[in-house]
Order: sequence, then C-alpha cells, then structure tokens
Amino acid sequence: MGQVPVSLLLISHLLTLPTAIHHTTAQQECTSLNTVPHQVRAGYWFSHSDRYSPVSNINTSLYTHLYYYSLSLDDTDSRVALPPDDQLPLLATFSTTIKAENPSLKTILSIATDDGQTNVSNAAFSSMVANQTLRAAFINSTMELARTNAFDGLDLAWQFPSSSSDMASLGILLAELRARINEEAQSSSSPLLLTATVYFSNHLFDVPADNLDYPMEAISDNLDWTNALCFGYHKNSDVTAFDAPLYDKASHFSTSYGITSWLDAGIPACKLVMGVPLYGRSWFLKNKMKNEAGAPVVAAGPRQKMSNQTGMMAYSEIKEILKDPDVVFLYDNQTVSAYIHSGRLWVSFDSLEVVEVKIKFALQKRLLGYFLWPISFDDSNYTVSKQASDIWLRNHDSPYYEDENGVEQAPSPAQLPPQDDALTPSAALSRSTHRSPTTHQLHLDLYILLFLLFYLTTL
Ligand SMILES: *[C@@H]1O[C@H](CO)[C@@H](O)[C@H](O)[C@H]1NC(C)=O
Ligand SMILES: *[C@@H]1O[C@H](CO)[C@@H](O)[C@H](O)[C@H]1NC(C)=O
Ligand SMILES: *[C@@H]1O[C@H](CO)[C@@H](O)[C@H](O)[C@H]1NC(C)=O
Ligand SMILES: *[C@@H]1O[C@H](CO)[C@@H](O)[C@H](O)[C@H]1NC(C)=O
Ligand SMILES: *[C@@H]1O[C@H](CO)[C@@H](O)[C@H](O)[C@H]1NC(C)=O
Ligand SMILES: *[C@@H]1O[C@H](CO)[C@@H](O)[C@H](O)[C@H]1NC(C)=O
Ligand SMILES: *[C@@H]1O[C@H](CO)[C@@H](O)[C@H](O)[C@H]1NC(C)=O
Repeated sequence: MGQVPVSLLLISHLLTLPTAIHHTTAQQECTSLNTVPHQVRAGYWFSHSDRYSPVSNINTSLYTHLYYYSLSLDDTDSRVALPPDDQLPLLATFSTTIKAENPSLKTILSIATDDGQTNVSNAAFSSMVANQTLRAAFINSTMELARTNAFDGLDLAWQFPSSSSDMASLGILLAELRARINEEAQSSSSPLLLTATVYFSNHLFDVPADNLDYPMEAISDNLDWTNALCFGYHKNSDVTAFDAPLYDKASHFSTSYGITSWLDAGIPACKLVMGVPLYGRSWFLKNKMKNEAGAPVVAAGPRQKMSNQTGMMAYSEIKEILKDPDVVFLYDNQTVSAYIHSGRLWVSFDSLEVVEVKIKFALQKRLLGYFLWPISFDDSNYTVSKQASDIWLRNHDSPYYEDENGVEQAPSPAQLPPQDDALTPSAALSRSTHRSPTTHQLHLDLYILLFLLFYLTTL
C-alpha cells in the first residue's frame, strides 16, 4: 500500500466534482419561453395594510416582483371588482411609485377570493370559470385594469378550487388568458406576466371531493410561474402547532412535502415559486407550563393592530413582543420552525433562522424563486426580506450554483435528515449521505488536484 492507491482515491473523488455547467431539461423548458424571468424574489403587498406599511416605505431593491394584493371578483358580472374609493389612488399609483425607485421591478395585480376585507365567495369564482361568457368578461376586465394601472402582470389567487369541475374550468381559463395575453402582446411591447397563487401541494387535502388535483398541463403550459402557498397548515388546530414547518415526520403538512408534490406532478422547478410567511400563528395556552408544540390551547391568540385577526401576528408585531426579556424564543431544528412563549401566549413563526433554511431548500430544489407573504408584515428595516434576498443572491449568483450540490449546506436539521415524503423515512435517510461540498472544500479540492498533477508529472 503506497502512495498510488491513495492518489487514485483522491483522483476518483475529484472526478466526481462537477466541472461543467449542467442544464436540466426543465431549465431548457423554461428558457424557451421568453417571458420567464431568471429568478423570482417576490413579495405580496397588502393594500388593506397600507396605513401601516405604505408603498413609499418599501425597499424596492429587495425584490424582483411585487404583487398588489388584492382585488376581487364582482359576482354580479364576473368582472374584476374595483377597490373602495379610498383605495383607488393606491391602485393607480402603486406601479409608478415602485418603478420610480426601481425601474426593473415588475408589478403584478392579484385577483383573489380573499382580499383581506370583504370575503368574496369561492362560488363567484366557480360560476365565472364555468361559463365562457363570464370568463371572457373576467379576462377582458382584468387585463384592461392591469394595463391602465401600469402593471406588468396578472395573478389569479383562487383559494381554492374545490371540485373537479372547478379544476377543469380553471385549466380552460388559464389557456384562454394565455391566448388573450399572447394576442394582445402582438400590439403592445411586452406580454403581461401570468401567475397563479395555489395550494401548498398539487393535491388538495381536506376537501369534500376525492382526488382533487390541479390541472398540471394547463398550469405548466400557460403560466409564467406558480406560487405555492406554503403555510397555514394548522389553521384550526386545537393544540399549538407550527404553521409552516419545512419538514414534518408525522403528516403531509409541510413545505418540503408540498414543493415535492408539485415537482413530482410535473411542474418544471424553474416555474415553481415557494411561499414564506411573514405572519405567525398564535394561541393562548391552557397551561403555561405546557408550552411545546402540541400543547393544549384555550383560544386563538389576541388580535393585533396591523394583522387585525385573532390567531395571527405580523413578524413586526412578534418582534415587538420579543423585546420583553421574559419572552422565550425557541428554534426547532427538526421541523425548521420557530416559536415564542410568554405566560399563556404561544406563537409559531418564521424567524430569520427558518427563512435561511427555507431559502436554501428552494435553491437546492432549483426553484425559480420564493415569495414573501406579505412584505407589509416585515419590520421597518425589511429584515426578513433582506435575509431572504441576501441568502438567495449569495447562492444563486455563486459560480457553484450550476452544480447540483452548489448550495451552501443549510445548518439544520443536523440530527434528522430532510424528509421529502413523510411516508418514506427510509428514502429520506439515504439522502442524508449526499453532503454537498462547500465553497471552501471545492477550493481545497482544486488545490489537491493541482498538487497531484504536479506530483504525478514529476514521477
Ligand atoms: C435596501 O436594501 C438594500 C439591500 O439590502 C440596502 O443596501 C439598502 O441600504 C436598503 N435601503 C434602505 C433605505 O434601508
Ligand atoms: C370567509 O368565508 C369562509 C367560508 O364562507 C369562512 O369560513 C371565513 O371565516 C370567512 N372569513 C372572514 C374573514 O370573514
Ligand atoms: C353564461 O352567463 C351568461 C351571462 O350571465 C348567461 O346569459 C348564460 O346563460 C350563461 N351560460 C350558461 C351555459 O350558463
Ligand atoms: C375589452 O372589451 C372592450 C369592449 O369590447 C374592448 O374595446 C377592449 O379592447 C377589450 N380589452 C381587452 C384587454 O381585451
Ligand atoms: C379589522 O378588521 C375588521 C373586520 O374584521 C374591519 O372592520 C376593521 O376595519 C379592520 N381594522 C383595521 C384597522 O384594518
Ligand atoms: C432598524 O435598524 C436600525 C439601525 O440598525 C435600528 O436602530 C432599529 O432598531 C431597527 N428597527 C427595527 C424595527 O428593527
Ligand atoms: C438540533 O437540536 C438538537 C436538540 O436541541 C441539538 O442537540 C442539536 O445540536 C441541534 N443541531 C443544530 C445543527 O442546531
């Protein structure tokens, strides 16, 4: 046993290092569409939180796309409903205000079932998509409103289609929208972007209909990208729960499950965008000594000023609570979740640690990007937006990103490997052996290679 076997071992190790840039078929699929951007670092801005988070305060350098959330549907004629009079100026100036600061930022008008103030019923969407005349009215009015107010795109945030005929009609609507957008683009400079905001997984749980799946072909073919709402997993829980864990051994309700389900169903990764919540879920504990996840609760947490809903808190509101030195902050590295408790109050939320691991997960999955929901809930320094953007850019723009192992290793979970599919823990375990080389290791390996070449040529 001399130096040669050792050298060969090292060389074989080095040969496994990526030296070429890999383009997956999915990436090719995306670059063939000229409207698809290189990356998406998006934020939803809640028009109804304007008084707390005005457009003029947004740090526009932190995003590539901003969503105006939202307008709803007028159920009398299926046209887009104009906002209340006092919000009309906001709609009219949103895009121009943002672009004055950052001309490369794109703005997208979101049409939603839930506009945060009125509760537009899913029934209005159901009847609109089911009827060709009503679909045409919807398409015409949304496109017109987007253009008159200088938006670059349209988003359909139907939460959620709930029958198989809803799903089939949604597919038809998306195809018709795409056709109209392409047609219109011939007479205008650039086509409107078209996105949809969808359930966290491609398969809907907790709906009366069985086997309710999104129309994958219509989604992949007609949308520029799809935003998966990767949060709100335990809205009506009667025990404390993590609202948006990345991993969950016990159920399907996790971001890793949802993202993997969309990818497995066939959406190209470069057309999928992962949601990260800037709100937390709060409860009052039954017993303040029982303060783990899964602890009994007596009620939803207190309504706060800006988030304005019991059981919900904005990141900025949680940060205020954290100023109290008696508040306990904990990070759960198995599920990638954070929570605080203080007396009887218990809140789960996405801390900066959670955001870091989730963004790295999105990078490792080669997703087109992420969106923050909503940026109105960030603190006044836009700390979460900055954290997400910094981590995304540092990795995405690194020369190693093109290599499939090129993303910095997320710091956790260290003990428990990632689980993409809650039902096959063994598959997840085997993945834990795929440790990626860090930038430093790659540099080190290159030095070893140079040394070996030198050594071998001098033999
Ligand atoms: C906005 O974010 C950028 C990028 O992180 C930062 O350099 C800049 O200082 C921020 N601007 C303000 C006004 O905070
Ligand atoms: C909206 O309507 C749904 C179902 O009709 C209901 O469960 C929900 O509580 C309503 N939300 C608000 C904010 O009123
Ligand atoms: C579609 O909607 C239009 C306008 O409301 C109505 O006149 C027509 O009867 C509807 N068509 C069907 C098939 O329901
Ligand atoms: C909407 O319909 C009106 C009236 O038919 C038409 O003039 C306009 O061009 C349409 N707009 C779009 C965006 O299709
Ligand atoms: C809070 O929500 C209620 C409806 O639930 C609404 O009437 C009220 O105007 C909202 N308050 C603020 C400050 O937005
Ligand atoms: C924002 O940043 C400034 C300067 O670093 C700091 O003094 C202030 O406390 C921060 N505000 C929040 C809400 O974090
Ligand atoms: C994860 O949590 C466990 C238990 O709290 C701890 O022992 C371990 O060091 C943590 N790992 C990381 C990487 O933080």
